[in-house]
Order: sequence, then structure tokens, then C-alpha cells
Amino acid sequence: MASWVSSIHVAWVGAIMLLLLMSAMQTHAQLTPTFYEKSCPAALKTIRKAVRTAIAKERRMAASLIRLHFHDCFVQGCDASVLLDDAPSINSEKNAFQNFRSLRGFEVVDSIKAAVEKVCSGVVSCADILAVASRDASEYVNGPTWTVKLGRRDSTTASKDLAEADLPIAFNDLDAQISSFANQGLSVRDMVALSGAHTIGQAQCATFRGRVYNDTNIDAGFARMRRRGCPVSDGNGNLAPLDLVTPNSFDNNYFKNLIKKKGLLHSDQVLFNGGSTDDIVTSYSTNKAAFYSDFASAMLKMGDIKTLTGSSGQIRKICSIVN
Ligand code: HEM
Repeated sequence: MASWVSSIHVAWVGAIMLLLLMSAMQTHAQLTPTFYEKSCPAALKTIRKAVRTAIAKERRMAASLIRLHFHDCFVQGCDASVLLDDAPSINSEKNAFQNFRSLRGFEVVDSIKAAVEKVCSGVVSCADILAVASRDASEYVNGPTWTVKLGRRDSTTASKDLAEADLPIAFNDLDAQISSFANQGLSVRDMVALSGAHTIGQAQCATFRGRVYNDTNIDAGFARMRRRGCPVSDGNGNLAPLDLVTPNSFDNNYFKNLIKKKGLLHSDQVLFNGGSTDDIVTSYSTNKAAFYSDFASAMLKMGDIKTLTGSSGQIRKICSIVN
């Protein structure tokens, strides 16, 4: 009797697991690198050309585009919600405190979208443009490259409240950072690898003032230097490079800086501060190939977060406005 019951139990568990597996496969089945092969064969090279033009004009744009994709994916998934402007039914994520006067590159995305609309109108989503542009941006500044999966569709909603709740902040400690990424299905290793994007780009004084005046796990000379450009009660918008050594080039210097206690943000240095992620930081600091490979995998994983596919959402005509 007992063995009869247990074989029924095993069969049930097996069937449920199969169903779960099938539904998981279905969710991602529609994202594929060849999605626009027939409907818009020129899509990828059109995006690449526009991205290269923008970064050639301003090198920092590579960083800004990568950050845009991250800030899109962490709020209700990679659905271009971050690009929507305020409207009667839209509470723009651009006004979330993590994004306001900070997130940039919107006009570049508009110009990429305009170029793509010219070659095939109404086909390529703004969410896919963000995913491809961040890959192209990384590649252009000597970072890793990967094959982007496509077929995301654009949201008809945005949420400033969710952006404020879900986007990590510079004052995070390690546990908060780990759980903010875990909430998106990303591992501790993914989190450390993705934080390596801070090998390029800039941060404003308001985001690192607390660190350079109050933190103790900071190199004294580095803190002094950064305080000069970031007065105690002035200059909130003054910029400093996230990687003091090679801010315009993607490499593994970010991790070398952390080992020297020269991380710019509090949330950077917590990755190397006697905690569980020290070993990963150490390995990336000496093994650029491992960092590149993990960064590429983690970007792919991030690009898969809660995508809209099939007939969900829409293909926006203008990225900042719902059709
Ligand atoms: C781990 C948690 C993270 C925190 C707390 C964080 C926080 C920040 C902050 C405060 C800035 C400076 C913004 C400003 O001053 O205007 C910044 C810049 C940047 N972040 Fe992050 N970030 C995190 C993870 C990531 C990830 C996962 C990526 C991409 C994969 C990323 C990419 C960037 C880039 C490229 C910049 C420079 C942008 C530019 O120069 O326009 N960050 N981040």
C-alpha cells in the first residue's frame, strides 16, 4: 500500500515539475537572437551605427546607455518603462530619486529609435533597443560582448514608486544589495559582476559625499582627493569617475580599486569589505576574462527579467510615449 501511494506521489510530482518546466520554457521561448531576421533584417546594424555615432561624440554615453538598460530591467522587467514621460496615466520613472537628474541617454535612444523606424516602421521595440544598445556600448569601449536575445515588447505603464523601491541605492550595505538583486532572480555572483559596470562612467558628489567624509574603509589619499571636488554642503552635481584609473575604458580596474579601498560609492566598497563577496572581487581583479564572461552572462540574465512577449504590451512608435 505504502509503495503504491508513494509511486502515485512520485508521478504527481513528476507531472507538476514537467508542467513548471514547460511553462518556464514558454516564457522565454519567444526571446531569440533571430527575432528580427525577417521582419527587420537591418535592425541590429542600424542600432549599432547610431550607438557608435553617439559614443564617438561623447565617450561617457557608453556608460549611460548600459545604466539605462539596468534601470529599465529592474522595474517591472525589461519593457522600456523607464523611457516613458509623465502623462495622465503615467507616473514617470524618470522622476524616481535614483533617476532624476542622473539617468541620461534618452535623446540618444530617441535618435536610435528614429533611425530604426526609418528602415522598418513599428517593428522594433524600445526595450530591445535598450538591450542591444547596451551590448553595443560595452563592445565599443573594449568591454565584453554577447548575443542579445530579442522579441521584448514595450509596456503601456510605468511606476515611479516601484522604481524607488526596486533600484539599488549608493548607501546600500552588502545585504541590501544582495537582496535587491535576488528579488530580480540574480545571484550574488551576478550582482558583483554587474557592479563591474562601474568601471566606466561618472557619479555625482551627492552620491559619494557620505563615503568620502564618513566611511573608514577608504584610502586616505583617495578620500582627500574626492573631497576636494565634493564640498560638505555644496556641489551636489559635481562629477567624479567611478573608476579613477580608466574611466573611459571597460576593464577590470574597478575590482583592483576596491582592493585598494578606492571604490567611489559606499555600495561599491561593500563588495570588498571583509564579507562574502571578497573572494569574487579578488578573482575578478586578477582574471579579466572571468569577469568578462560572468558580466556577459549576467547581462543576458538581466535582459530576461519579466519581458513582455507575444501579444502583451506594444511596439511603441516613440519611446517616451505610449501609442
Ligand atoms: C549594485 C548596485 C548599484 C548601485 C547602488 C548603483 C548606483 C549608482 C550610482 C549612485 C551612480 C551614479 C549616478 C549619478 O551620480 O548620477 C551609478 C552610475 C552608474 N551605474 Fe550603477 N549602481 C549599481 C549597479 C549597477 C549596475 C548593475 C549597472 C549596469 C549593469 C550599473 C551601471 C552604472 C553605470 C554605467 C553608471 C555611470 C553612468 C553614467 O556615467 O552616465 N550600475 N550607479
